[in-house]
Amino acid sequence: MSDDVLQQLTRHALVPVIVLDDAADADPLGAALAGGGLPVAEVTFRTDAAEEAIRILAARGDILVGAGTVLTPDQVDRAVGAGARYVVSPGLSRTVVEHCRRHEVTVLPGAVTATEVQAALELGVDTVKFFPAGTSGGAKAIAALAAPFTGVRFVPTGGIDAGNVADYLALPSVAAVGGSWMAPRAAIRAGEFDAIRKSTADAVAAVASLRSV
Ligand code: 3PG
Repeated sequence: MSDDVLQQLTRHALVPVIVLDDAADADPLGAALAGGGLPVAEVTFRTDAAEEAIRILAARGDILVGAGTVLTPDQVDRAVGAGARYVVSPGLSRTVVEHCRRHEVTVLPGAVTATEVQAALELGVDTVKFFPAGTSGGAKAIAALAAPFTGVRFVPTGGIDAGNVADYLALPSVAAVGGSWMAPRAAIRAGEFDAIRKSTADAVAAVASLRSV
């Protein structure tokens, strides 16, 4: 597993969660994210365009692209084959984690309870997605889980936006925060790449100001 990828995600602190209906939007989306100062994307396997979109974003060479909503070993194969540098799952699947390990690709499985975090640790995973963050207790729940699991890092996603991202980033146990608010599906579909670049730049600026205090 490549710690370098986790380090890069931690450095950026934000992971735009992407749902693409048309792979033709991948390149302008990549340009908008990079132009906004956040060359990171988690492309979810929720649409048929995901694999091709990952391939296009990876080919740009300037985006740290991963695959999200990965539920099966076959999707791991397709994601890695297309150039995904990391794989994100909504839940904790031993099969997916072990398959990612065979590919030597970074994996971020989901875990929101103490039992799930412990199971992740038993699989050798110490950075987990905390999903769905908003309805799983939010930042308070992460802070509570971080008390016993001191070495674990969380990537909360689900229900996070410009209004509450600071609550999560304030926690030392949070490696990065994921969400669709920077590049919403509807905005991508409508070709609103200027707006995406601007909301990405706003999020990056917010992270910078949080870190400077
Ligand atoms: C995810 O898959 O990580 C979430 O669905 C993104 O959640 P959001 O749309 O509430 O940001």
